[in-house]
Amino acid sequence: MIATQDLTDSPEDIARAAEILRAGGLVAFPTETVYGLGGDARSDHAVARIFEAKGRPRFNPLIVHVPDVDSARRFARLDARAEAVAAAFWPGPLTLVLPLRADAGVSPLVTAGLETVAIRVPAHPVARALLQAFGGPLAAPSANPSGKVSPTRADHVRAGLAGRIEAILDGGACAVGVESTILGLEGAPSLLRPGGVPAEALEAVLDCAPVAGGSAARPNAPGQLASHYAPGAMVRLEVTVPEPGEIWVGFGPCPGAALSLSETGDLVEAAARLFHVLREADALAGAGASGRIAFAPVPETGLGRAINDRLRRAAAPRG
Ligand code: TXA
Ligand code: MG
Repeated sequence: MIATQDLTDSPEDIARAAEILRAGGLVAFPTETVYGLGGDARSDHAVARIFEAKGRPRFNPLIVHVPDVDSARRFARLDARAEAVAAAFWPGPLTLVLPLRADAGVSPLVTAGLETVAIRVPAHPVARALLQAFGGPLAAPSANPSGKVSPTRADHVRAGLAGRIEAILDGGACAVGVESTILGLEGAPSLLRPGGVPAEALEAVLDCAPVAGGSAARPNAPGQLASHYAPGAMVRLEVTVPEPGEIWVGFGPCPGAALSLSETGDLVEAAARLFHVLREADALAGAGASGRIAFAPVPETGLGRAINDRLRRAAAPRG
């Protein structure tokens, strides 16, 4: 057991967090999507500890977080399409899978031995300040035990990882609330994970629709593993008439719902609240001992795609 320090977003605490990272320690930090579990991407030891703290299968590669597109170019090769989407969406909730530079210096554990690397420039001011203070690339998966619900608040991180990591930097609730969109750009643009940048927005910049990439059989991204984001309770989707005892989570007008993703049917609000509501519903289902959560339908447009993707995985049979 490690004593996990609680840090604030003050400049002193951010400097302290950077020091912990330089010493090979692990710090959970806020991004605009979800909290990340950060470690020095150049250190085999730090990266191995990320996998260990999460209980994550080794074959799942990690995202490298950098402060700007210039640093991204030091680790990966960006072609004209990559430059165009980077200019349009960085900093922001987009991850690009790009050819890894031979001299990148990132630990092979980060890329799981692949010749590609996933890179993202986060927009959250605390993430940016931490990257500046640390001065290097940060490997950071979502800061939750592998397969469980992603964290959008510091107390979610504490509930899952206290005692396993050196520190948690509290930057409040995450504004986007679902993970970054992952776009593969080794060949034809492929959508490896729907996320905070809607596919429609990517399509407008790329001038073509990214093809759906990955499958449960051959996961390109662990978001592709069927069961993920699993709460304790069983989850049913597209429910307009809940069964007795089910914790019904509404979207738009749903009279009688115990909780709501967004009472006004706003997808941005629903994404921001998704993982917190999933945790609250899980607690209610456990307390009421029904053990069942039912989600109202969410439209499959814009951020709705990322929301439905996460809900389908939360509802998938557990392996
Ligand atoms: O919003 C986010 O992306 C958050 C925050 C913390 O940045 N991070 C996050 O990381 O969701 P994680 O580790 O939970 O998901 C990273 C995804 C995985 O699905 C992984 O398989 C994929 O990125 N990935 C990483 N490197 C890859 C590569 N070279 N090729 C294909 N997929 C890759
Ligand atoms: Mg994750």
